[in-house]
Amino acid sequence: MKLTLFAAKDYDRKYFDRVREEAFPEIEIEYIDYELEPRTAAFAKGADAICAFVSANAGAETLDVLKECGVKAVLMRCAGYNNVDVKKAKDLGIVVKRVPAYSPESVAEHAMTLAMAVNRHIHKAYNKVRENDYTLKGLRGRQMFEKTAGIVGTGKIGAAMCRICKGFGMQVIAYDMYKNPSLADFVEYVSLEELFRRSDLISLHCPLTDDTYHMINIENIKKMKNDVILVNTSRGALVNTDELIEGIRLGKFLGVGLDVYEEETGNVYEDRSDEIMMHSVTSRLLSFPNVIITSHQAFYTREAVIAIAETTLQNMLDAMNGVSTGNDC
Ligand code: NAI
Repeated sequence: MKLTLFAAKDYDRKYFDRVREEAFPEIEIEYIDYELEPRTAAFAKGADAICAFVSANAGAETLDVLKECGVKAVLMRCAGYNNVDVKKAKDLGIVVKRVPAYSPESVAEHAMTLAMAVNRHIHKAYNKVRENDYTLKGLRGRQMFEKTAGIVGTGKIGAAMCRICKGFGMQVIAYDMYKNPSLADFVEYVSLEELFRRSDLISLHCPLTDDTYHMINIENIKKMKNDVILVNTSRGALVNTDELIEGIRLGKFLGVGLDVYEEETGNVYEDRSDEIMMHSVTSRLLSFPNVIITSHQAFYTREAVIAIAETTLQNMLDAMNGVSTGNDC
């Protein structure tokens, strides 16, 4: 059986090949450099399934082309699937599966890394010391111990973040529609409103839905404490970037750490260092000294990429054998 893997990076080839050789020799993998979109979908001709990632366009138009190519399954090698038209896929008889959890701790650890980096100005300190500047100007941070962490969404990643914050000696409050029983002994669930009001660190770990789109907007930013740290490792559109910039200019934030941001689709895993950005809000964000942006790398650990390859190839076997699992979208 044949799998066409779109937007293949070196690490995809390395770990997918390794896992395939060890455990899934019956699957043949063709790697395509291009991103999945209506114009590139025809590369899947002859494949039983395709594999795509966070920046793919798996909307209705793409799915129509995939169907014509004979594709029976769309396998997302990530947790989120907001870029797949699942209803259309169902209508076409195409199965959609994903990797719901590959290393929640990897993402949560990166969220805390961003929080601590902006808090202790690591991005500035790194450059200062390299320039032989050993002064402390602009480097004062804040102790996290005994501060309040507000975690939005306490699924797998949010729960891992709660445990990390507890390890820092923080008081942990959270907002979710469903309480996670594994956190009962140390997390206090509050309303979103109260979370915005009380938190010194706010970290977003809920999915992007109609309800959560632009949940960080100027109205909510104004409810936050002054000198709050905001971290987003979930999905860019949880934050209204223009209004975040307005909040930064109002002096609301001690720091902002973003692994995801609204404009990321054209950037993710691309080298655009020679380009002049014309109307980029990302460039505007990067002009602030208290903002750190990484490019959708929170998941990227050795443990996670192996787990992604293993689950995706198992999803392929399940899809081809008509087996439904918890990985179905
Ligand atoms: P999960 O499904 O285990 O947890 C999501 C939680 O959010 C659930 O508890 C759910 O009840 C809650 N939720 C849903 N709607 C909500 C709302 N309106 N307000 C508050 N909470 C709400 O998902 P997981 O694995 O923890 O992933 C969370 C998000 O992290 C994913 O949706 C994905 O977008 C993002 N992610 C980012 C990665 C990166 O590399 N930056 C890697 C993997 C995931």
